[in-house]
Amino acid sequence: MSKSLFQLGAHTLHIPAGVHKLNRQRLIQSLKNDSAVASNAVVLLVGGKGQNLYDTDVESVFRQESYFHWTFGVREPDFYGAIDLATGKSYLFAPKLDEVYAIWMGKLYTLEDFRNRYEVDEVAHTEQLADVLSGLKASTLLTLKGTNTDSNLETLEATFAGIDRFTVDNSVLHSHIAECRVIKTPQELEIMRYTNKVSSEAHIEVMKSIRPGMTEYQLESIFKHYCYYNGGARHMSYTCICGSGENGAVLHYGHAGAPNEKTVEDGDMCLFDMGCEYYCYSSDITCSFPANGKFTPDQKLIYEIVLKANRAVLKAAKPGVSWKEMHLLAERIELEELVKNGLLQGDIEEMMAARLGFIFMPHGLGHLLGIDVHDVGGYLGHCPERDPLPGLRQLRTCRTLQAGMVLTIEPGLYFVEAQLKRAKADPKLARFIRWENIDRFRSFGGVRIEDDVAITEDGAELLTTVPRSVEEIEAVMAEGRKRTVDFPQQTITAPVTVSL
Ligand code: GLY
Ligand code: MN
Ligand code: MN
Repeated sequence: MSKSLFQLGAHTLHIPAGVHKLNRQRLIQSLKNDSAVASNAVVLLVGGKGQNLYDTDVESVFRQESYFHWTFGVREPDFYGAIDLATGKSYLFAPKLDEVYAIWMGKLYTLEDFRNRYEVDEVAHTEQLADVLSGLKASTLLTLKGTNTDSNLETLEATFAGIDRFTVDNSVLHSHIAECRVIKTPQELEIMRYTNKVSSEAHIEVMKSIRPGMTEYQLESIFKHYCYYNGGARHMSYTCICGSGENGAVLHYGHAGAPNEKTVEDGDMCLFDMGCEYYCYSSDITCSFPANGKFTPDQKLIYEIVLKANRAVLKAAKPGVSWKEMHLLAERIELEELVKNGLLQGDIEEMMAARLGFIFMPHGLGHLLGIDVHDVGGYLGHCPERDPLPGLRQLRTCRTLQAGMVLTIEPGLYFVEAQLKRAKADPKLARFIRWENIDRFRSFGGVRIEDDVAITEDGAELLTTVPRSVEEIEAVMAEGRKRTVDFPQQTITAPVTVSL
């Protein structure tokens, strides 16, 4: 086996050497192809900083900044990295730690250790940054400045004492490196197959373990334990969303104010959106299923509409196809099926024009996936702007698909009280809705079916491997219900009561 950059035990994925070397070569090529970039410019990136919890000395578990991980794969905080376009050489700058740190951290790595581990040409301490960069005789330092189109937050831009001695250009690097990140290398795809495998298995474990009476966060806990214990996934790609019953209609349920704390009831539909990351590469999977293991006719109805939309997109996705068209395809299928099943009425084209789909699916069909769960590059190149129309505005990308992209396909159907209220108040929308039939779904929650796919030369490779048909889900859940509950409800100690 080739030298390992990263592995967390023999049962986890071995990350071979060369992943980041290849990424750097791609970035160099991209910059060299741009006539506006000087051939002797130097790329300068700053890694993520170690963070303490507020004013305490408790350190948060470090997770590398995504652009820095893509370029250098460094595990530790407080590094800088540079690439000299003239020579193609790569440089890392490590913080110089006083020897006393060894008492707390164990062996301190030498510069030579870092050079070997991270396969760069030169290594120095951060305090030598200005001197080393001066020695390169670069015309310009290219630093990373750009806005993340999902969060509207700015990238971390490198700066250091003495940077005023250099010409700095922060206008070109961001689009080049983001564009490189959009297309995954074979090695990156292999990591994402792995994160999908681990997360898919963990979802199956949750489906097998769930019993009405459990609290939502207990299922979150089973998922996380499975991913970390079996897959070495210390981090989740995002906060776990474990919505049961009406909570399934809350798109990002699970946040601090609603931390997966409801008791799962018999008869609830569950919408569990969870994905782990490994070596900073993400997965993003949603499974929707009945808490008690058996779909009611209404649950089956809504579920199969969403599955039809999901599978139609999976079949149609290939290079050259517009993601906006895929969103509209999913929406159209859902509206048609809702008409067929008596929940909507009227002409589909008119519904599409009125943007009725947004009432029932108030998010985009899916997004690019990579080191970030909502990965960068969604609004680059041929499609720099969001479409202002409801539903299309929520799309995190409007790009035309290309081989090597990884995306989620995540159509959903939700009964969101605020959305239904809006529709009722708007005659242009209200006329399509058969309110007498919709009313029985008001506490239904929602269904989302979210898969991760890699676009290939002529189609899409499905990375997610969870049961999807009603029959498959019921079979897996029935199997789980044969076993004794692995996670029985326990009373840890008698509750503490305080009398005043
Ligand atoms: N888990 C967030 C999303 O599906 O985009
Ligand atoms: Mn998701
Ligand atoms: Mn997603």
